[in-house]
Formats: sequence, C-alpha cells, structure tokens
Amino acid sequence: MQFAGSHILSIAQFERPDVERVFAVADSMEPYAHRRRVTKVLDGAILGAMFFEPSTRTRVSFGSAFNLLGGEVRETTGFEQSAIAKGESLYDTARVLSGYSDVIAMRHPQEGSVAEFAAASRVPVLNGGDGSNEHPTQALLDLYTIRKELSARGRDVDRLRIAMVGDLRFGRTVHSLCKLLCLFQGIQVVLVSPVELRMPGDIVEQLRAAGHDVLESEALESSIRHVDIVYSTRIQEERFSSQQEADLYRGRFRLNQSIYTEHCEPNTVIMHPLPRDSRVTARELDDDLNDNPNLAIFRQTDNGVLVRMALFTLVLDVAEQVHRHARDVNWYTGGRFDGL
Ligand code: CP
Repeated sequence: MQFAGSHILSIAQFERPDVERVFAVADSMEPYAHRRRVTKVLDGAILGAMFFEPSTRTRVSFGSAFNLLGGEVRETTGFEQSAIAKGESLYDTARVLSGYSDVIAMRHPQEGSVAEFAAASRVPVLNGGDGSNEHPTQALLDLYTIRKELSARGRDVDRLRIAMVGDLRFGRTVHSLCKLLCLFQGIQVVLVSPVELRMPGDIVEQLRAAGHDVLESEALESSIRHVDIVYSTRIQEERFSSQQEADLYRGRFRLNQSIYTEHCEPNTVIMHPLPRDSRVTARELDDDLNDNPNLAIFRQTDNGVLVRMALFTLVLDVAEQVHRHARDVNWYTGGRFDGL
C-alpha cells in the first residue's frame, strides 16, 4: 500500500505487510507518546478533526497524536456547529475544509459518508467511524494491543482464539477487527450475541473464506472458556429505532470478576473499544474487573495514540524524519506509562 497521500477509509485497503509497517512505526512513537521526547516534525501542519457523532477517545487521541507530532488541531463537533446544518453538501464541505487542513479525521453517522467526503477532499482523510460500517483506526489499535498482550504471554496473532461479545450487528469496531483478522492465520472466533444482533453474514463469510474457525453463540459463559481474548462491546443504542428496542438487549452479556474467575483461563485478556456502558442496566464489563491485570481497556486507549501517530506520519510521509526534529522533554512526566 502507498501510504503517502492516501485516505484511510477501510481495513480492506490493508495487506499484512501494511499492518506490520503501521505497527513498526507505532512502536517508534513510544518516546513521544510516553512523554520522554518531543518532536516538531509536523510543525505548521493542521489537522481538521470533524466529529459529527459523539466521541471521546477517537476525537481526542487523533488530536493528541497530531499535537505530539508538533501539529495543530482545528475541531468541528456536531452538525449544529457546521454549515451542513444549513444544507451544505459533504462535497462542498470537503472542498472547503481541505483547503484549511493538511489532513482530516472524520466521524459521521451515515455509512459510506466518510468515503464520500474523502472523494471530494484535497487532503488525506482518516475514517474515525462511519455509522455501523467501519472504524479502521480502532481495529488497528485493537490488533496492536492484541499483539502486545499476546507477545507478553509468548504468543502470536496467528492461531489467536477470540470471543467477540455484544452488539455485533451495529458495532463497527468488530466489523473492522474481523476484516483485519482475515489477514492472519488459523484464528478461532466465537461470536456471542443475541440472534437479532449477529455479525453481518458477509463478514462471517470473509472470516471463513480466510480459513478461520467461526462459531456463533448466544451463551457467554461457555463461549469464553478457551479463548485468549474476550472482546466485549456496548449495545449501540444510537443505531436502534427506539430506546425500548435497545433495552431488549442491554445487560444481556455481563462479564464480572466472578464469571471471569469461574469460566476464563487465568491469563485471558479482556478488551473493549469503549465507551463501556456503566449504567446499572448494562455493565457489559463490570467495575469489579478494574483491578484485574488482564483488563487491557486502558492499554488499548493509550495504544490508540501510538497507532494514530503512526498513521499521520505515514500519510504525510514523515515517518523517517520524526527523530530528526526531536529533543528531550523539559517537564516532570511521572510514571503513568510505566509497565506499558
Ligand atoms: N472507541 C471509540 O470509538 O470511542 P469514542 O466513541 O469515544 O471515540
């Protein structure tokens, strides 16, 4: 894949060597993301961050990643802050904003909208989530986390055993992650969801066509017994036609410490793209897991900065120049990244 100048819209763009390239560059971003070094490689560059749906991690970590590379961020959040609310098209918005930015990160509630915007953009566009379609940078940071967690246990991504749990129909993170896993070998995937929220059939077919072993289930406890990773997801209530419909599924699959202790292997890694729904009616990952060392959810969020820094340096073609524009940090940085 030619990264320089490319949009990052779908996992379908990636071959395995491209993923390895992103991960190698992400590894090299650690001194900057972990506040030991400062680089100004993107001094003068501007990121247009356009988030037309709520976001904490993706929006802020794209912005932090760009700032950590020395660039500046201009944010538009919500349709009401944009002239789209006055009827402006995605085409016109893209033509305008790509004159103000060097790269754009975008989230939008409609499937395919980020690709439509990118087709009119004069600068690279990174998909931060388009409806229930894809979330490619989340899948990359998830796989980067899986690789790191397994490596600490002497394992590789090939022959991974993973259970994906929750709303697999509308959850764009699991759609992109499944597509990414198709680049690897011999994976066992257990898809745990209510029948109505099953993984789309075309994605199940892609997994099977890649030679992976796929089992669909409605039972949490028997599905998490022999896996390396439990990847839990939230019921995507914003994709349902009513709250009452979402309420039918909320809280159906709850993982807590006692279920983990009874049913999981001792080193099973717990992941979630976040936000987890911590309301009493949901709690797909209970707070009593917070002290479980195998809970990797905040390692995932930290890794998101590394992966998004890597993507920016690759699409702006500065991956080899980062260290030339660097110095040590001046301020007290504490030990918040120790042990990562
Ligand atoms: N994982 C994720 O996309 O989180 P946000 O919705 O907070 O960006």
